Amino acid sequence: MPLKILVGTQWGDEGKGRIVDLLSSQSDIVARFNGGDNAGHTVNVSNHTFKLHLIPSGIIHPHTLGVLGNGLVINPKSLLIEIEMLRDSGVEISPERLLISYAAHLIMPGHITLDRAKETNLGKGQIGTTGRGIGPAYTDKVSRKGLRMIDMLDLALFEERIRLHMQQVNYDLSFHYQTAPLKVEPVVSDYLEYARQLHDYIVDTGAVLDMALHEGKLVLAEGAQGMLLDIDHGSYPFVTSSNVTATGVFSGLGIGICKVENVIGATKAFQSRVGAGPFPTELDGEMATRLRGTGAKPWDEFGTTTGRPRRVGWLDGVLLRYARRVNGLTDLVLTKLDVLSGLEQIKVCTAYEDVNGEQYAIPPMGITQLDQYKPVYETLPGWQEDLTAVRQWDDLPKAAQEYIRFVEKISGVLVMLASVGPERSQVVEVPA
Ligand code: IMP
Repeated sequence: MPLKILVGTQWGDEGKGRIVDLLSSQSDIVARFNGGDNAGHTVNVSNHTFKLHLIPSGIIHPHTLGVLGNGLVINPKSLLIEIEMLRDSGVEISPERLLISYAAHLIMPGHITLDRAKETNLGKGQIGTTGRGIGPAYTDKVSRKGLRMIDMLDLALFEERIRLHMQQVNYDLSFHYQTAPLKVEPVVSDYLEYARQLHDYIVDTGAVLDMALHEGKLVLAEGAQGMLLDIDHGSYPFVTSSNVTATGVFSGLGIGICKVENVIGATKAFQSRVGAGPFPTELDGEMATRLRGTGAKPWDEFGTTTGRPRRVGWLDGVLLRYARRVNGLTDLVLTKLDVLSGLEQIKVCTAYEDVNGEQYAIPPMGITQLDQYKPVYETLPGWQEDLTAVRQWDDLPKAAQEYIRFVEKISGVLVMLASVGPERSQVVEVPA
Protein backbone atom coordinates (compact mmCIF):
# COMPACT_ATOMS: atom_id res chain seq x y z
CA MET A 1 0.00 0.00 0.00
CA PRO A 2 2.15 2.84 -1.25
CA LEU A 3 1.54 5.97 0.77
CA LYS A 4 4.05 8.81 0.59
CA ILE A 5 3.89 11.75 2.96
CA LEU A 6 5.27 15.22 2.33
CA VAL A 7 5.55 17.70 5.20
CA GLY A 8 7.30 21.03 5.72
CA THR A 9 10.06 20.84 8.33
CA GLN A 10 10.17 24.57 9.14
CA TRP A 11 7.59 27.34 9.66
CA GLY A 12 5.90 26.77 6.29
CA ASP A 13 6.80 28.18 2.86
CA GLU A 14 9.43 25.51 2.23
CA GLY A 15 8.38 25.20 -1.40
CA LYS A 16 6.14 22.15 -0.88
CA GLY A 17 3.83 23.08 -3.76
CA ARG A 18 6.43 22.55 -6.43
CA ILE A 19 7.66 19.31 -4.76
CA VAL A 20 4.09 17.97 -4.70
CA ASP A 21 3.83 18.94 -8.33
CA LEU A 22 7.00 16.99 -9.07
CA LEU A 23 6.04 13.90 -7.03
CA SER A 24 2.54 13.95 -8.49
CA SER A 25 3.82 12.85 -11.85
CA GLN A 26 4.10 9.38 -10.21
CA SER A 27 1.01 9.63 -7.94
CA ASP A 28 -2.58 8.60 -8.60
CA ILE A 29 -4.00 10.69 -5.77
CA VAL A 30 -2.76 13.80 -3.95
CA ALA A 31 -4.56 14.41 -0.66
CA ARG A 32 -4.42 17.41 1.69
CA PHE A 33 -4.88 16.44 5.35
CA ASN A 34 -4.75 19.67 7.37
CA GLY A 35 -5.26 23.43 7.44
CA GLY A 36 -7.27 25.57 5.07
CA ASP A 37 -6.68 28.51 2.76
CA ASN A 38 -4.04 29.85 5.15
CA ALA A 39 -1.65 27.74 3.05
CA GLY A 40 -0.13 29.12 -0.11
CA HIS A 41 1.52 26.88 -2.67
CA THR A 42 3.19 28.31 -5.74
CA VAL A 43 3.92 26.15 -8.77
CA ASN A 44 5.59 27.38 -11.95
CA VAL A 45 4.94 25.39 -15.11
CA SER A 46 6.18 26.73 -18.46
CA ASN A 47 6.13 30.38 -17.39
CA HIS A 48 2.67 30.04 -15.84
CA THR A 49 2.51 30.63 -12.07
CA PHE A 50 -0.25 28.81 -10.17
CA LYS A 51 -0.95 30.11 -6.64
CA LEU A 52 -3.02 27.56 -4.77
CA HIS A 53 -4.37 27.76 -1.24
CA LEU A 54 -6.66 24.74 -0.90
CA ILE A 55 -6.58 22.43 -3.89
CA PRO A 56 -3.54 20.10 -3.89
CA SER A 57 -1.01 21.31 -6.43
CA GLY A 58 -0.87 17.78 -7.94
CA ILE A 59 -4.17 18.61 -9.69
CA ILE A 60 -2.17 20.37 -12.40
CA HIS A 61 -1.20 16.89 -13.71
CA PRO A 62 -4.13 15.66 -15.81
CA HIS A 63 -4.11 12.09 -14.37
CA THR A 64 -4.11 13.03 -10.67
CA LEU A 65 -7.15 12.95 -8.38
CA GLY A 66 -7.14 15.70 -5.73
CA VAL A 67 -8.62 15.04 -2.29
CA LEU A 68 -9.45 17.48 0.50
CA GLY A 69 -9.53 15.36 3.66
CA ASN A 70 -11.62 15.58 6.81
CA GLY A 71 -8.77 17.32 8.68
CA LEU A 72 -9.29 20.52 6.69
CA VAL A 73 -11.28 23.65 7.40
CA ILE A 74 -12.64 24.84 4.06
CA ASN A 75 -13.76 28.28 3.01
CA PRO A 76 -16.16 27.37 0.18
CA LYS A 77 -15.89 30.82 -1.39
CA SER A 78 -12.08 30.53 -1.67
CA LEU A 79 -12.45 26.98 -2.98
CA LEU A 80 -14.85 28.02 -5.74
CA ILE A 81 -12.60 30.95 -6.73
CA GLU A 82 -9.66 28.54 -6.94
CA ILE A 83 -11.68 26.08 -9.06
CA GLU A 84 -12.51 28.91 -11.49
CA MET A 85 -8.89 30.11 -11.57
CA LEU A 86 -7.69 26.60 -12.45
CA ARG A 87 -10.37 26.20 -15.13
CA ASP A 88 -9.36 29.57 -16.64
CA SER A 89 -5.78 28.25 -16.82
CA GLY A 90 -6.94 25.14 -18.70
CA VAL A 91 -6.97 22.68 -15.75
CA GLU A 92 -10.14 20.59 -15.81
CA ILE A 93 -11.92 20.44 -12.43
CA SER A 94 -14.90 18.13 -11.89
CA PRO A 95 -16.01 15.56 -9.28
CA GLU A 96 -13.98 13.04 -11.28
CA ARG A 97 -10.84 15.05 -10.46
CA LEU A 98 -11.52 16.55 -7.02
CA LEU A 99 -13.22 15.09 -3.94
CA ILE A 100 -14.05 16.75 -0.63
CA SER A 101 -14.55 14.89 2.64
CA TYR A 102 -18.06 15.12 4.07
CA ALA A 103 -16.41 15.55 7.48
CA ALA A 104 -14.26 18.58 6.63
CA HIS A 105 -15.36 21.69 8.50
CA LEU A 106 -16.59 24.92 6.95
CA ILE A 107 -15.05 28.32 7.46
CA MET A 108 -17.82 30.90 7.82
CA PRO A 109 -17.50 34.71 7.50
CA GLY A 110 -17.97 34.91 11.28
CA HIS A 111 -14.80 32.84 11.79
CA ILE A 112 -12.83 35.35 9.73
CA THR A 113 -14.25 38.33 11.62
CA LEU A 114 -13.56 36.57 14.94
CA ASP A 115 -9.98 35.71 13.87
CA ARG A 116 -9.27 39.41 13.24
CA ALA A 117 -11.10 40.59 16.37
CA LYS A 118 -9.16 38.11 18.54
CA GLU A 119 -5.86 39.27 17.05
CA THR A 120 -6.72 42.94 17.67
CA ASN A 121 -7.62 42.04 21.25
CA LEU A 122 -4.24 40.38 21.81
CA GLY A 123 -2.41 43.65 21.08
CA LYS A 124 1.33 43.10 21.37
CA GLY A 125 0.81 39.36 21.99
CA GLN A 126 -0.64 38.81 18.49
CA ILE A 127 0.04 35.46 16.80
CA GLY A 128 0.15 37.15 13.40
CA THR A 129 -2.44 34.78 11.90
CA THR A 130 -3.29 34.83 8.21
CA GLY A 131 -6.72 36.24 9.13
CA ARG A 132 -8.50 33.42 7.23
CA GLY A 133 -10.63 32.25 10.18
CA ILE A 134 -8.57 29.08 10.71
CA GLY A 135 -8.32 29.21 14.54
CA PRO A 136 -12.02 30.00 15.16
CA ALA A 137 -13.16 27.28 12.69
CA TYR A 138 -11.03 24.65 14.46
CA THR A 139 -12.25 26.00 17.82
CA ASP A 140 -15.86 25.36 16.71
CA LYS A 141 -14.86 21.87 15.53
CA VAL A 142 -13.39 20.96 18.92
CA SER A 143 -16.33 22.62 20.72
CA ARG A 144 -18.62 20.33 18.69
CA LYS A 145 -20.59 23.17 17.13
CA GLY A 146 -18.89 23.48 13.74
CA LEU A 147 -20.62 23.26 10.37
CA ARG A 148 -19.37 20.51 8.08
CA MET A 149 -19.44 19.76 4.37
CA ILE A 150 -22.08 17.07 4.98
CA ASP A 151 -24.44 19.77 6.27
CA MET A 152 -24.45 21.23 2.74
CA LEU A 153 -26.19 18.14 1.38
CA ASP A 154 -29.58 19.00 3.00
CA LEU A 155 -30.32 22.65 2.18
CA ALA A 156 -33.21 23.11 4.64
CA LEU A 157 -31.20 21.73 7.54
CA PHE A 158 -28.12 23.64 6.39
CA GLU A 159 -30.04 26.92 6.48
CA GLU A 160 -31.19 26.23 10.04
CA ARG A 161 -27.63 25.42 11.11
CA ILE A 162 -26.22 28.57 9.47
CA ARG A 163 -28.79 30.71 11.30
CA LEU A 164 -27.93 29.10 14.64
CA HIS A 165 -24.20 29.55 13.97
CA MET A 166 -24.73 33.23 13.07
CA GLN A 167 -26.61 33.81 16.33
CA GLN A 168 -23.66 32.39 18.30
CA VAL A 169 -21.04 34.29 16.30
CA ASN A 170 -22.89 37.59 16.57
CA TYR A 171 -23.26 37.09 20.30
CA ASP A 172 -19.49 36.50 20.59
CA LEU A 173 -18.65 39.46 18.39
CA SER A 174 -20.78 41.96 20.27
CA PHE A 175 -20.29 40.75 23.85
CA HIS A 176 -16.68 39.59 23.82
CA TYR A 177 -15.15 41.77 21.13
CA GLN A 178 -17.43 44.85 20.93
CA THR A 179 -17.61 44.31 17.17
CA ALA A 180 -20.68 44.97 15.00
CA PRO A 181 -22.76 41.85 14.30
CA LEU A 182 -22.69 40.37 10.79
CA LYS A 183 -25.75 40.53 8.53
CA VAL A 184 -27.37 37.10 8.48
CA GLU A 185 -29.30 37.02 5.17
CA PRO A 186 -26.34 37.51 2.78
CA VAL A 187 -24.43 34.72 4.55
CA VAL A 188 -27.42 32.38 4.31
CA SER A 189 -27.94 33.01 0.60
CA ASP A 190 -24.20 32.83 -0.25
CA TYR A 191 -23.69 29.56 1.63
CA LEU A 192 -26.80 27.94 0.13
CA GLU A 193 -25.42 28.81 -3.30
CA TYR A 194 -21.96 27.38 -2.40
CA ALA A 195 -23.74 24.21 -1.23
CA ARG A 196 -25.49 23.85 -4.61
CA GLN A 197 -22.19 24.28 -6.44
CA LEU A 198 -20.15 21.89 -4.26
CA HIS A 199 -22.82 19.21 -3.74
CA ASP A 200 -21.36 16.67 -6.19
CA TYR A 201 -17.81 16.90 -4.83
CA ILE A 202 -18.72 15.81 -1.28
CA VAL A 203 -18.07 12.11 -0.49
CA ASP A 204 -16.50 9.82 2.09
CA THR A 205 -12.92 10.46 0.98
CA GLY A 206 -11.52 8.09 3.67
CA ALA A 207 -13.29 5.16 1.93
CA VAL A 208 -12.01 6.28 -1.49
CA LEU A 209 -8.43 6.50 -0.18
CA ASP A 210 -8.65 3.16 1.62
CA MET A 211 -9.86 1.44 -1.55
CA ALA A 212 -7.15 3.14 -3.64
CA LEU A 213 -4.41 2.02 -1.24
CA HIS A 214 -5.72 -1.56 -1.30
CA GLU A 215 -5.67 -1.50 -5.09
CA GLY A 216 -1.98 -0.53 -4.94
CA LYS A 217 -2.49 3.03 -6.16
CA LEU A 218 0.07 5.60 -5.14
CA VAL A 219 -1.26 8.20 -2.72
CA LEU A 220 0.70 11.31 -1.82
CA ALA A 221 -0.40 13.01 1.40
CA GLU A 222 0.39 16.72 1.22
CA GLY A 223 0.84 18.69 4.41
CA ALA A 224 0.14 22.41 4.55
CA GLN A 225 2.21 24.82 6.68
CA GLY A 226 5.36 23.51 8.38
CA MET A 227 5.74 21.26 11.39
CA LEU A 228 7.07 24.05 13.62
CA LEU A 229 3.51 25.46 13.35
CA ASP A 230 1.90 22.19 14.56
CA ILE A 231 -0.65 22.72 17.34
CA ASP A 232 0.97 19.99 19.51
CA HIS A 233 4.62 19.96 18.45
CA GLY A 234 5.20 23.50 17.18
CA SER A 235 6.44 26.68 18.85
CA TYR A 236 3.22 27.04 20.87
CA PRO A 237 1.35 29.43 21.13
CA PHE A 238 2.75 30.86 17.88
CA VAL A 239 1.33 28.01 15.82
CA THR A 240 -1.62 27.21 13.60
CA SER A 241 -4.59 25.21 14.91
CA SER A 242 -4.08 21.88 13.14
CA ASN A 243 -1.76 18.87 13.20
CA VAL A 244 0.83 19.56 10.55
CA THR A 245 3.16 16.65 11.33
CA ALA A 246 3.23 13.35 9.41
CA THR A 247 1.21 11.56 12.09
CA GLY A 248 -1.71 13.91 11.34
CA VAL A 249 -2.09 12.19 7.95
CA PHE A 250 -4.07 9.25 9.32
CA SER A 251 -6.61 11.21 11.35
CA GLY A 252 -6.76 14.01 8.75
CA LEU A 253 -7.51 11.62 5.87
CA GLY A 254 -9.61 9.03 7.69
CA ILE A 255 -7.38 6.03 6.90
CA GLY A 256 -5.88 3.50 9.30
CA ILE A 257 -2.19 3.21 10.04
CA CYS A 258 -0.62 1.60 7.01
CA LYS A 259 2.79 1.10 5.47
CA VAL A 260 4.34 4.41 4.51
CA GLU A 261 6.91 4.32 1.73
CA ASN A 262 8.57 7.65 2.49
CA VAL A 263 8.09 10.56 4.85
CA ILE A 264 9.65 13.38 2.88
CA GLY A 265 10.57 16.61 4.62
CA ALA A 266 10.64 19.80 2.55
CA THR A 267 13.42 22.02 3.91
CA LYS A 268 14.40 25.41 2.59
CA ALA A 269 18.19 25.97 2.44
CA PHE A 270 17.68 28.80 4.95
CA GLN A 271 15.00 29.50 7.57
CA SER A 272 11.91 31.72 7.20
CA ARG A 273 8.84 32.57 9.21
CA VAL A 274 5.75 34.76 8.82
CA GLY A 275 3.84 35.97 11.83
CA ALA A 276 5.11 36.38 15.37
CA GLY A 277 7.06 33.98 17.57
CA PRO A 278 10.65 33.15 18.47
CA PHE A 279 13.20 32.62 15.68
CA PRO A 280 16.71 31.95 17.06
CA THR A 281 18.64 32.27 13.76
CA GLU A 282 16.78 35.35 12.50
CA LEU A 283 18.82 37.88 10.51
CA ASP A 284 18.19 41.53 9.85
CA GLY A 285 19.79 44.24 7.73
CA GLU A 286 21.53 43.55 4.45
CA MET A 287 21.84 39.79 4.84
CA ALA A 288 18.09 39.48 5.50
CA THR A 289 17.28 41.51 2.38
CA ARG A 290 19.71 39.35 0.42
CA LEU A 291 17.92 36.11 1.45
CA ARG A 292 14.39 37.55 1.26
CA GLY A 293 14.65 39.21 -2.15
CA THR A 294 12.83 42.40 -3.00
CA GLY A 295 9.45 40.91 -3.84
CA ALA A 296 9.97 41.50 -7.56
CA LYS A 297 9.96 37.75 -8.29
CA PRO A 298 6.96 35.57 -7.34
CA TRP A 299 9.29 33.22 -5.43
CA ASP A 300 10.87 35.96 -3.27
CA GLU A 301 10.17 35.61 0.45
CA PHE A 302 6.79 37.34 0.64
CA GLY A 303 3.69 35.43 1.83
CA THR A 304 1.63 33.79 -0.95
CA THR A 305 -1.52 34.21 1.16
CA THR A 306 -0.94 37.55 2.89
CA GLY A 307 1.86 39.24 0.89
CA ARG A 308 3.70 39.92 4.18
CA PRO A 309 7.53 40.00 3.97
CA ARG A 310 8.84 36.83 5.60
CA ARG A 311 11.36 36.94 8.43
CA VAL A 312 14.50 35.11 7.31
CA GLY A 313 17.61 33.59 8.90
CA TRP A 314 20.27 30.87 8.69
CA LEU A 315 19.24 27.23 8.52
CA ASP A 316 18.47 25.89 12.00
CA GLY A 317 19.89 22.36 12.35
CA VAL A 318 18.46 21.95 15.87
CA LEU A 319 14.94 22.42 14.57
CA LEU A 320 15.63 20.15 11.60
CA ARG A 321 16.82 17.38 13.92
CA TYR A 322 13.63 17.86 15.94
CA ALA A 323 11.55 17.67 12.73
CA ARG A 324 13.21 14.35 11.87
CA ARG A 325 12.27 12.91 15.24
CA VAL A 326 8.66 14.08 15.39
CA ASN A 327 7.81 13.18 11.77
CA GLY A 328 9.97 10.07 11.31
CA LEU A 329 11.48 11.65 8.20
CA THR A 330 13.07 9.24 5.71
CA ASP A 331 14.20 11.79 3.07
CA LEU A 332 14.69 15.51 2.63
CA VAL A 333 14.15 17.77 -0.35
CA LEU A 334 16.32 20.86 0.01
CA THR A 335 14.74 23.84 -1.73
CA LYS A 336 16.04 27.25 -2.85
CA LEU A 337 19.69 26.20 -2.82
CA ASP A 338 20.27 28.70 -5.66
CA VAL A 339 19.42 31.62 -3.35
CA LEU A 340 22.63 30.99 -1.37
CA SER A 341 24.88 31.54 -4.45
CA GLY A 342 27.20 34.51 -4.13
CA LEU A 343 27.72 34.35 -0.35
CA GLU A 344 31.31 34.19 0.95
CA GLN A 345 30.27 32.13 3.94
CA ILE A 346 27.12 30.32 5.03
CA LYS A 347 26.21 29.68 8.64
CA VAL A 348 24.20 26.76 9.97
CA CYS A 349 22.97 26.53 13.56
CA THR A 350 24.14 23.22 15.02
CA ALA A 351 23.23 23.64 18.72
CA TYR A 352 21.57 26.02 21.17
CA GLU A 353 23.27 27.59 24.18
CA ASP A 354 21.39 28.71 27.30
CA VAL A 355 22.26 31.66 29.57
CA ASN A 356 24.57 29.42 31.65
CA GLY A 357 26.60 28.46 28.59
CA GLU A 358 25.17 24.93 28.46
CA GLN A 359 24.74 23.60 24.92
CA TYR A 360 21.93 21.40 23.61
CA ALA A 361 21.50 19.33 20.45
CA ILE A 362 17.75 19.56 21.17
CA PRO A 363 16.55 21.60 24.18
CA PRO A 364 15.15 19.57 27.12
CA MET A 365 11.59 20.90 26.72
CA GLY A 366 11.43 20.57 22.94
CA ILE A 367 11.00 23.79 21.05
CA THR A 368 8.94 25.77 23.52
CA GLN A 369 10.66 28.82 25.00
CA LEU A 370 13.00 29.06 22.00
CA ASP A 371 13.71 32.68 22.89
CA GLN A 372 15.82 31.49 25.85
CA TYR A 373 18.55 30.16 23.59
CA LYS A 374 21.37 31.56 21.51
CA PRO A 375 22.27 29.72 18.30
CA VAL A 376 25.70 28.09 18.03
CA TYR A 377 26.86 28.26 14.42
CA GLU A 378 29.19 26.33 12.20
CA THR A 379 30.46 28.37 9.25
CA LEU A 380 30.77 26.75 5.83
CA PRO A 381 32.39 28.12 2.68
CA GLY A 382 29.96 29.63 0.16
CA TRP A 383 30.06 29.41 -3.64
CA GLN A 384 29.82 32.11 -6.30
CA GLU A 385 28.39 30.18 -9.25
CA ASP A 386 24.77 30.59 -10.37
CA LEU A 387 23.06 27.20 -9.84
CA THR A 388 19.86 27.79 -11.79
CA ALA A 389 21.04 25.90 -14.91
CA VAL A 390 22.58 22.96 -12.99
CA ARG A 391 20.73 19.62 -13.36
CA GLN A 392 23.42 17.10 -12.37
CA TRP A 393 25.09 16.51 -9.00
CA ASP A 394 28.56 16.54 -10.58
CA ASP A 395 27.93 20.03 -11.99
CA LEU A 396 27.23 21.55 -8.57
CA PRO A 397 30.12 23.54 -7.10
CA LYS A 398 32.02 21.58 -4.46
CA ALA A 399 30.91 24.00 -1.70
CA ALA A 400 27.22 23.47 -2.64
CA GLN A 401 27.72 19.69 -2.51
CA GLU A 402 29.36 20.09 0.90
CA TYR A 403 26.47 22.22 2.12
CA ILE A 404 24.01 19.45 1.16
CA ARG A 405 26.17 16.81 2.89
CA PHE A 406 26.33 19.02 5.99
CA VAL A 407 22.52 19.26 6.09
CA GLU A 408 22.39 15.44 5.96
CA LYS A 409 24.89 15.22 8.81
CA ILE A 410 23.13 17.62 11.17
CA SER A 411 19.63 16.25 10.47
CA GLY A 412 20.43 12.55 10.24
CA VAL A 413 18.34 12.32 7.03
CA LEU A 414 19.52 11.87 3.43
CA VAL A 415 18.72 14.61 0.92
CA MET A 416 17.08 13.04 -2.16
CA LEU A 417 16.65 16.18 -4.23
CA ALA A 418 17.77 19.82 -4.25
CA SER A 419 15.90 22.55 -6.09
CA VAL A 420 17.81 25.32 -7.85
CA GLY A 421 14.96 27.46 -9.19
CA PRO A 422 11.19 27.75 -9.29
CA GLU A 423 10.55 25.85 -12.55
CA ARG A 424 9.42 22.21 -12.51
CA SER A 425 12.67 21.14 -14.22
CA GLN A 426 15.07 23.03 -11.91
CA VAL A 427 16.06 20.13 -9.64
CA VAL A 428 19.18 18.08 -9.00
CA GLU A 429 19.01 14.47 -7.84
CA VAL A 430 21.34 13.92 -4.90
CA PRO A 431 23.21 10.60 -4.83
CA ALA A 432 23.16 8.71 -1.52
P1 IMP B 1 -3.32 30.80 11.14
O1 IMP B 1 -3.03 29.45 10.59
O2 IMP B 1 -3.89 31.75 10.12
O3 IMP B 1 -4.16 30.73 12.38
O4 IMP B 1 -1.93 31.48 11.61
C1 IMP B 1 -1.15 30.96 12.68
C2 IMP B 1 0.33 31.10 12.39
O5 IMP B 1 0.69 30.23 11.34
C3 IMP B 1 0.76 32.50 11.91
O6 IMP B 1 2.09 32.74 12.39
C4 IMP B 1 0.78 32.37 10.41
O7 IMP B 1 1.63 33.32 9.80
C5 IMP B 1 1.30 30.95 10.27
N1 IMP B 1 0.90 30.30 9.02
C6 IMP B 1 -0.31 29.78 8.71
N2 IMP B 1 -0.31 29.23 7.49
C7 IMP B 1 0.94 29.39 7.00
C8 IMP B 1 1.59 28.98 5.78
O8 IMP B 1 1.01 28.33 4.90
N3 IMP B 1 2.90 29.35 5.66
C9 IMP B 1 3.56 30.00 6.64
N4 IMP B 1 3.02 30.37 7.79
C10 IMP B 1 1.71 30.08 7.98
